[in-house]
Amino acid sequence: MLYDVIVVGSGISGLYAALYAKRAGFHVAVVTKTNPLRSNSSVASGGINAVIDTSSYDSITRHVNDTEDGGDGLSDRDAITQMCSEASSIIQELSEMGVAFDSDVKGKIKQRPFGGTKASRTCYIADKTGASITQNLFKKCREEGIEILSNYQFLNIIEYKEKLSGITVLRRADSHVIALACKALVLAGGGYAGIYRGHTTNPQESCGDVIAAALRAGARISNMEFVQFHPTTLAKSGALISEAARGEGAYIVDERGERFTEELQTRDKLARDISKHILAGHKVYLDFRHLDPALIEERLPSTQKIALSSAGIDITKELLEISPAAHYTMGGIWTRQDTSTDIPYVFACGECAQSGVHGANRLGGNSLLESAYFGRIAGREAAKVALKREFGMIDYAYVEKESRKIDLILSGESHFNINAMRKNLGEGLFKNVGVFRTEESLTTALEYINYLLKKQYGLHCVSKERHNNVELSSILEFKNALIIAETICMCALKRKESRGAHYREDYPNKDDKKFAVESYLTQLQENYFQVSFEAGNRDSWLYKLKKILHLQ
Ligand code: FUM
Repeated sequence: MLYDVIVVGSGISGLYAALYAKRAGFHVAVVTKTNPLRSNSSVASGGINAVIDTSSYDSITRHVNDTEDGGDGLSDRDAITQMCSEASSIIQELSEMGVAFDSDVKGKIKQRPFGGTKASRTCYIADKTGASITQNLFKKCREEGIEILSNYQFLNIIEYKEKLSGITVLRRADSHVIALACKALVLAGGGYAGIYRGHTTNPQESCGDVIAAALRAGARISNMEFVQFHPTTLAKSGALISEAARGEGAYIVDERGERFTEELQTRDKLARDISKHILAGHKVYLDFRHLDPALIEERLPSTQKIALSSAGIDITKELLEISPAAHYTMGGIWTRQDTSTDIPYVFACGECAQSGVHGANRLGGNSLLESAYFGRIAGREAAKVALKREFGMIDYAYVEKESRKIDLILSGESHFNINAMRKNLGEGLFKNVGVFRTEESLTTALEYINYLLKKQYGLHCVSKERHNNVELSSILEFKNALIIAETICMCALKRKESRGAHYREDYPNKDDKKFAVESYLTQLQENYFQVSFEAGNRDSWLYKLKKILHLQ
């Protein structure tokens, strides 16, 4: 199958990219391994940040400053400025597409405060913002003739003469590996917080597989050590209790009913305060009881429902026990401001990209903004490539090799339980590469990952069924998760300081002299990586010149 542009991932960034490439006149497909409406974008419920009324207290400069401060010295102010300046036009565009942001009787969009700012800057649809935006974008993509290939699991990038020519995917309906040719590729497949299984708001599908594939194909990945722990998730299951709760006035209290922290500080600091309190033997709760039940019903209906169905708690009357869990990953495929990566004609956007806007810690409400902003750019840039390029050759020997690997996993004798291995990895990561880290804990984690990396060759499917074999998909995801876990540990070990979401108990201070720089990780040869620290140089003159001359 041939497509001008292929987009991997059906979250907000992927759907936006697909829409913009399609509107430029190209044949576009979105490849997604699960139900397109179940992406992680749908989970981000609390809202999307934008300054829509500059006559008020707020301003774009304040949004830029808050975002930069949140990033703790690692973000790119220029990229942030561009993104924040476009935010209100994104809200307007989404409204025109049919996204019904909550508004007052005069039609003015309502906004709530989120962490890391004093302004009410977060536009919302109750506490279902991500899901609502995703549904509208998906509908638009269908209406405009974008092909949605759901139940296709992305495997790898295919190159011909070191240039992109397509991708391999696992067609889950029959477990066959097929090649899809394209002129431009947009990677928008999400982050890797799902590898903290048992301690994450993400589905386990969020295992960093597009990041691992980009790394294998020669791209730099960056800032992998920065994993955001959402401060308020259900203590028993890790289900997200949206920041909207605190934005609407819920308190954080302990078993004595005492407030011990500031609810609307940035997530990195709040997650640490809560974790310390839990480690000191306390229980931590969200307290909604002082809020008007009518407000809860209107603005926090999903939160109310999750609390009741998952924890049996009526939040209007009872305390809801919470604890931090992995939620978002700031690291990913290094990109320039035009979303290009180190691989010509391959773009990345959304959570899988390290675009420079979040630095060491992302502000709540900025991920949906980032996804929409960079999704639009990726779509436009991919369309420019599709206009000037011919299709490259598909290396079928490579496709055949991929196929043999799948057949081997399917046919071999199973020695291990994939579910248990994924759970153990999640437990180990949360314990040793969690809110707090040390040289010792990171080394322990790395040793365990290396042990699992050896064991992975003994992973085979118990069921030999080729139709929608969930175990096969899970094994493939786990192999990528192990690579991602290794890269997190390698970068976290080398960053001997504390910054943003990366807190080293053995190096509790920030070290701007050595580490006010991004970490980069490249693959030297299969499964051998190199970590370096460099100042982000997003748009070099050489790259700009090559672009002008159409060499890139
Ligand atoms: O808490 C939340 O609603 C999550 C939002 C986000 O991650 O931006």
